[in-house]
Amino acid sequence: MTEFVGEDATDSPQSTLRTLILGAGGQLGRELYRVFKGFGSVLGADRSLVDLAQPEQLRTYVRRVQPDVILNAAAYTAVDRAETEKQLARAVNAEAPRILAEEARRRNALLVHFSTDYVFDGAKPEPWVETDPTKPLNAYGVSKLAGEQAIQSVGGEYLIFRTSWVYGPYGHNFLLTMLRMARERDKLSIVDDQVGAPTTTMGLARATQIIVGGVLTGRFGAASDWAGVYHMTCGGSTSWFGFADAIFALAASQLDIRAPQLIPIAAKDHPTPAARPRNSILSNEKLGDRFGLQLSSWESGLDETIEVLRNQPAQ
Ligand SMILES: NC(=O)c1ccc[n+]([C@@H]2O[C@H](COP(=O)([O-])OP(=O)(O)OC[C@H]3O[C@@H](n4cnc5c(N)ncnc54)[C@H](OP(=O)(O)O)[C@@H]3O)[C@@H](O)[C@H]2O)c1
Repeated sequence: MTEFVGEDATDSPQSTLRTLILGAGGQLGRELYRVFKGFGSVLGADRSLVDLAQPEQLRTYVRRVQPDVILNAAAYTAVDRAETEKQLARAVNAEAPRILAEEARRRNALLVHFSTDYVFDGAKPEPWVETDPTKPLNAYGVSKLAGEQAIQSVGGEYLIFRTSWVYGPYGHNFLLTMLRMARERDKLSIVDDQVGAPTTTMGLARATQIIVGGVLTGRFGAASDWAGVYHMTCGGSTSWFGFADAIFALAASQLDIRAPQLIPIAAKDHPTPAARPRNSILSNEKLGDRFGLQLSSWESGLDETIEVLRNQPAQ
């Protein structure tokens, strides 16, 4: 993929808008591109067009495109590898967002950026709210938190959506890994003592589009009324084991995939280079109060995603 350009929707109120989607080849970026198509002129850029680890290349690219809206779905997301590639993770997850915020501010553009539950240490038993103290447990979380802070310190018109356990019909994610493993293994051991809300790329992209549309038409007031950090996840919660169990129940009936035997294990019995939070559940109350929307339950999100997979031509 290189640069791809959506058609101008000349009858839409946003027809003169230019929206730039960074990370358009990733699982969320790809879905954002699909949902925003027709929202004025939409450019999706992947790494072959602009490398977010090259600050001056990124700045020059944004100045050339002159976007009114920047959706940053690009990120260094290799959580375990980040432990040994801290500098690269920082460049992509913290330095690049700072440049995007500066360039957005320079031309009064809206910047939408995505962050993570990994900014928290997971020690609180209740759902995390936006004002809770951050304390990342791993290098990825540290780099993502630095990205949030960089955007906030530049200011301007920005939205930071913290989300969790992201998956969809494409890319690298837990759902697709489980479906692949089901073909290879009879038994799977899955962590049962980390909880969160599996969140679909489709739900995130649709909610983002509704909010961006509302912001641009002034429905949510001035930037001082809406700019900030919001949690945005599907509703409800489960453990990785519960998610896997739900995946295989549906996959058996909808995708004709034989469910492997699932064995619940503790995270301590599945050591990884990067530590992960025990409780990743984010409260979506602020999002609902401010923008009047909520994503579907994680179970409905899974139904929808499996339905998309069911209708995909066999690979
Ligand atoms: N996945 C999750 O469970 C999860 C959870 C919470 C929050 N989030 C956040 O949600 C957002 C979207 O994540 P995702 O799951 O869609 O991630 P993803 O599928 O890994 O996509 C990230 C994209 O960023 C691109 N990228 C990485 N380094 C780059 C660079 N130096 N220059 C240009 N592009 C680069 C990747 O390109 P390549 O494919 O070429 O590497 C990829 O297309 C991110 O901000 C992430 O931190 C994700």
